[in-house]
Amino acid sequence: MSETQRMVTVRVPAKINLLLAVGPRRPDGFHELSTVFCAVGLYDTVTASPATDLSVRLTGPESAGLPADARNLAWRAAVLLAEHVGIEPRVRLSIDKAIPVAAGLAGGSADAAATLLACARLWNLTVEPAARDALAAELGSDVSFALHGGCALGTGRGERLRPVPATAASSWVLAAASGGLSTPQVYAELDRQRAAGTGSPAVGGPEPVIAALGSGDPHLLADRLGNDLEPAALALAPYLGATLAAGRRLGALGGLVSGSGPTCAFLAPDGEAAERLAQGLLASGTCRFARAVVGGAARPKLTVRSNQS
Ligand code: C5P
Repeated sequence: MSETQRMVTVRVPAKINLLLAVGPRRPDGFHELSTVFCAVGLYDTVTASPATDLSVRLTGPESAGLPADARNLAWRAAVLLAEHVGIEPRVRLSIDKAIPVAAGLAGGSADAAATLLACARLWNLTVEPAARDALAAELGSDVSFALHGGCALGTGRGERLRPVPATAASSWVLAAASGGLSTPQVYAELDRQRAAGTGSPAVGGPEPVIAALGSGDPHLLADRLGNDLEPAALALAPYLGATLAAGRRLGALGGLVSGSGPTCAFLAPDGEAAERLAQGLLASGTCRFARAVVGGAARPKLTVRSNQS
């Protein structure tokens, strides 16, 4: 007898931080942030299918070396959601990875957010948005933003969000390095630099970036980008200096390390210029991956398919 099987797919974008102002380290080990998140058009896809237990399968160009067990944030997201409603986490998660790992693009957080959305639908749960946001925050500082996409101001450790309107989509190039950087190590390096008095001046508040996003003027936005973690990322991965210099030489309006790095994000005047910049960056040999993407408009997208089996 044939049975109808439902599969839920969530396509979820990467993020960059247009501004990342890092405050002091809190007693809980996290740093107080003021950050402007911007979702970009580079996507992972998470498919949740019915199963008798929990499993994770990873495919796609950026899946090499990733754990398919409880070390994977998507696995933990399924367990946390199931615990929240008092059921067993019975789901097969297939994750198609296009977002580079440990890159400052919140790829793992995106997979966790997609898993929360997909499992809630697969298991027919009604989870209030506030409860879902709380589960996301428990999983990681960037997971709450990944549930929403678009542009947002993040405060607290990054989990308290306020949507930020962007008048126009922006054109970016993401240039990823061969290796990854550990987020805790980058924050620890910033603390070390500050304690030693060798840190760079702080980047300031988010209002100028929010105003530039509202104006739709990429030149204005380029002047206002900033990341307090950049000097720490550069200290741990000095080769990023060459990537940033190449992007500027090749005509980027502005460029910065995304989040804790090592991906660099470059702002271009328009989509065609971004495509040319991506090609130039790849040819420069200063990165292994350069992709033109649109910023500000990307959001998670959920689809449900029914298969006869
Ligand atoms: O929340 P998430 O798991 O992404 O954080 C990873 C690490 O990054 C934390 O353990 C902490 O070392 C650092 N972090 C921080 N302050 C934040 C966010 C992250 O120090 N606001």
